[in-house]
Amino acid sequence: MIKKCLFPAAGYGTRFLPATKATPKEMLPVLTKPLIQYGVEEAVEANIHTMAIVTGRGKRAIEDHFDISYELEHQIKGTSKEPLLTEIRSLITQCTFSYTRQVEMKGLGHAILTGETLIGNEPFAVILADDLCDNNGNDSVLKQMVSVYEKYQCSIVAIEEVPLEETNKYGVIAGNLVDNTDDTYRVTDMVEKPEPRNAPTNMAIIGRYILTPDIFDIIRNTKPGKGGEIQITDALLEQAKEGKVIAFKFKGKRFDCGSVNGFVEATNYFYEKEKNV
Ligand code: UTP
Repeated sequence: MIKKCLFPAAGYGTRFLPATKATPKEMLPVLTKPLIQYGVEEAVEANIHTMAIVTGRGKRAIEDHFDISYELEHQIKGTSKEPLLTEIRSLITQCTFSYTRQVEMKGLGHAILTGETLIGNEPFAVILADDLCDNNGNDSVLKQMVSVYEKYQCSIVAIEEVPLEETNKYGVIAGNLVDNTDDTYRVTDMVEKPEPRNAPTNMAIIGRYILTPDIFDIIRNTKPGKGGEIQITDALLEQAKEGKVIAFKFKGKRFDCGSVNGFVEATNYFYEKEKNV
């Protein structure tokens, strides 16, 4: 059973400056909901109710978002605006939220290790909230991954095929097809942000993982890699060498909301979707 979901949310979000100077990237709204709320809803759909969030300086708005604002609630009680808070109120009652701070931004692997204190010794999910996923009528992407985890009982990474010229934005895998009925591959190699000519495939890891807790010790022993950061890809490669990483081609659509293009695309997509409800 996967009971906890970790949200590494300490990054600086430099691609969105100046918007992210004083506002966490994870709080940027697509329509009326901040990115991190979509992530929490996805976790809840996967039956996960314990949220563990790795924040950093200037990220306090995330904590306030998942808390009751008594003044605001009092102000709009009984008015036509009250329903606008229904969804977030329901999330707050269904979930617990705990936080820890990454003091130095040494990369995603390091952020995940920082979360160890909130996770403990159990398998856990990871959502990078700036990768916004829509299930397109399927189960939520994380729910699909939990089913894959239940079958293979090892670390799972979500992948999608990207244009070859974009491999340098992602961790890229190579693997052997295990089961084409559920689109799973046993990972044999992983490279962080390879140039297209060095990429083993065009199968890119997106911001959804299920990790087994031995990953923490592996990260502790992982040296800084690409960009001088401690990369989760390098740690996962250690598990992959033992045949313990499955890549899963999820069903649904993903938007890279950490980039302006992806963010605008997501906004248009969700706007059209909502208009047609
Ligand atoms: P990104 O590289 O996409 O985020 O990291 P960033 O560094 O915030 O964005 P840019 O490139 O400067 O625009 C992927 C995820 O890992 C988290 C980020 O918050 C994001 O969710 N992260 C990254 C951390 O929590 N800590 C880090 O040290 C690095």
